[in-house]
Amino acid sequence: MYISSLKLSNFRNYSSEEIELSPYTNVIYGDNAQGKTNILEAVCMFSLGRSHRAKTDRELIKFGKDFAKLRLSFHDAERDYKATLQLFKNGKKSIKINHVQITKLSMLMNYLNVVMFSPEDLDLVKGAPSARRRYMDSSVSQLYPRYLTSLIDYHKALAQKNSLLKELRAKGAKSDVMLSVWNEQLAIEASKIMEYRSDFIQLVNDYASKIQREISREELKIQYSPGIKTDDTDKSSIFRYLEKNQRREIEFASAQVGVQRDDLSISVNGTDARAYCSQGQQRTAALSMKIAEADYLKSIKGEYPVLLLDDIMSELDINRRAYLERRIRGKQVLITSTDTDIVKSTDNTRLIHIKNGSVVKEDK
Ligand SMILES: Nc1ncnc2c1ncn2[C@@H]1O[C@H](COP(=O)(O)OP(=O)(O)OP(=O)(O)O)[C@@H](O)[C@H]1O
Ligand SMILES: [Mg+2]
Repeated sequence: MYISSLKLSNFRNYSSEEIELSPYTNVIYGDNAQGKTNILEAVCMFSLGRSHRAKTDRELIKFGKDFAKLRLSFHDAERDYKATLQLFKNGKKSIKINHVQITKLSMLMNYLNVVMFSPEDLDLVKGAPSARRRYMDSSVSQLYPRYLTSLIDYHKALAQKNSLLKELRAKGAKSDVMLSVWNEQLAIEASKIMEYRSDFIQLVNDYASKIQREISREELKIQYSPGIKTDDTDKSSIFRYLEKNQRREIEFASAQVGVQRDDLSISVNGTDARAYCSQGQQRTAALSMKIAEADYLKSIKGEYPVLLLDDIMSELDINRRAYLERRIRGKQVLITSTDTDIVKSTDNTRLIHIKNGSVVKEDK
């Protein structure tokens, strides 16, 4: 799939700008703080329904303006799509695709898929478990609206359980029936979430280990490491497991077990990558995992997602950069960079020079 044009009005530091994109490589270049990442962020809005970095939608509206408006034209093998997204100062958001109002953000996944790759993703292996959960969530929720719904419901129930645990500790309670009610709710969603995550990681492991072998001849292995340690992932086993932890959770006044503690165990040549691998091996593994994420989306959806590479090329050494270039050839990719010579230019490469929230015209 590919995007042909993006129009931004009062979005971040853009007043009004239309950007035409090549179906292949687009290099968005310019000095720091000119608005390069803002473009990738705008694209993300149509796929995730929210920004990959902002806490609130309000931050995205240009200072001093009441609303922002984005338009995106994109295409897959079957159809052409025109999408409009409006953000209002009061927090309201409206998204339409081909004139149909999107009433639930989980519907967006049926349209545009993207994989964003930024320098923080190079810490996927050595960073905190939350980064690895985000990695699972961003792909799986783009494919299965039910996954996202479960995730949202799970976190709502978890917040309720946590506030109950605080009350119970204050009261000096040892157990509580309401706690079981929340555990039951959590077990239902956790069972679904674990199944999705486990299936995703099995497939991603196949892709990523192949990619790692191609880059460095190393054996990469990625395994799902659930926070709920049961032999079965059916809801009653999970429920029993959660219930066993009641006393401990009241003591801590917060949930100690659950899918919010899920992680991945990653090894290279049989040794734990997080603890023992060199920085280079960890980065190669992270790169393999990100490319695998895109391959996974392609395998399920039949369309390769649009790749958004935010400042990533300058972070990679020549070998890895060459590998990535080879893998993205023929696909649409939006690359931000402060230089233009970050990728080999071909006839299909479009250079887009950004200065202070505008496209510099002579490059068009
Ligand atoms: N709501 C907003 N209204 C106006 N300007 C904003 C708003 N939000 C952010 N900006 C401006 O956008 C600019 C940052 O844009 P962006 O993150 O896209 O930069 P960049 O070109 O990617 O820079 P770098 O190379 O450092 O990553 C900053 O100058 C910031 O002040
Ligand atoms: Mg940037």
